[in-house]
Amino acid sequence: MIVARSINELDLPRHGVVGLVPTMGALHPGHTALFRAARPGCDVLVASVFVNPVQFSDGADLAAYPRDFARDATLAEAEGVDVIFAPSAEAMYPPGFATWVVPEGSAEGLESAHRPGHFRGVATVCLKLFNIIRPEIAWFGQKDAQQVAVLKQLVRDLNVGVEIRVVDTVRDTDGLALSSRNARLTADERERARAIPRALETRDEAQARAVLECAGIEPDYVAVADLDGPTLAVAARVGAVRLIDNVRLVDNVPFREGETP
Ligand code: PAF
Repeated sequence: MIVARSINELDLPRHGVVGLVPTMGALHPGHTALFRAARPGCDVLVASVFVNPVQFSDGADLAAYPRDFARDATLAEAEGVDVIFAPSAEAMYPPGFATWVVPEGSAEGLESAHRPGHFRGVATVCLKLFNIIRPEIAWFGQKDAQQVAVLKQLVRDLNVGVEIRVVDTVRDTDGLALSSRNARLTADERERARAIPRALETRDEAQARAVLECAGIEPDYVAVADLDGPTLAVAARVGAVRLIDNVRLVDNVPFREGETP
């Protein structure tokens, strides 16, 4: 596995299909699912590991974001990743950087109402990654449903030659969607957070609110939105940890077999 720490070091073997799994590191089985979905469909699999500072509206959240590159590299290599691109913030946003992608449409509301500038940061870094790595296909997780909708809109609107593929949310045995942030939950918070997948299981906005209220969780939002199809989406703070999750309402069952909400 090649590790490129800068854009200049990124001398990609360009044969066949190049695939990209963009990540912010702190890899967990949700990322493993992305690598496993991606690996058979591409000849060169690239994972980016970059904690993108410009998508954090809260400095404390950025500072608390877990970073363990050695562990991430071991996991990525075990999953057959060919190249890790892990640039510095200075390489991605050098002095004088002043051009942003500011998505509207699906970027409006939900996360944007609580994390101003978040999708500007996501859209900008993803377009940069697409331009630097030039993948044919890029994989993202359904857990970030609004992000997926924004990135599909971006490639459509700006004629970016990348196909966006989406992988189902991976859940822990207690139903909680896997997230790097889960590690920061105390045992009691984790117990309360289980109300989020239970709320989504109702597939109904009002009932979902009631389930969260019962667990003493005051959500940032509970809403049905068109995120590439009707989707019930929830964001809530449990203690100091902000969690997001969603369920697509077009599916017949809220969770796949083997998942325990
Ligand atoms: O979903 C994430 O981890 C990030 O938002 C992404 C897509 C890697 C952009 O920084």
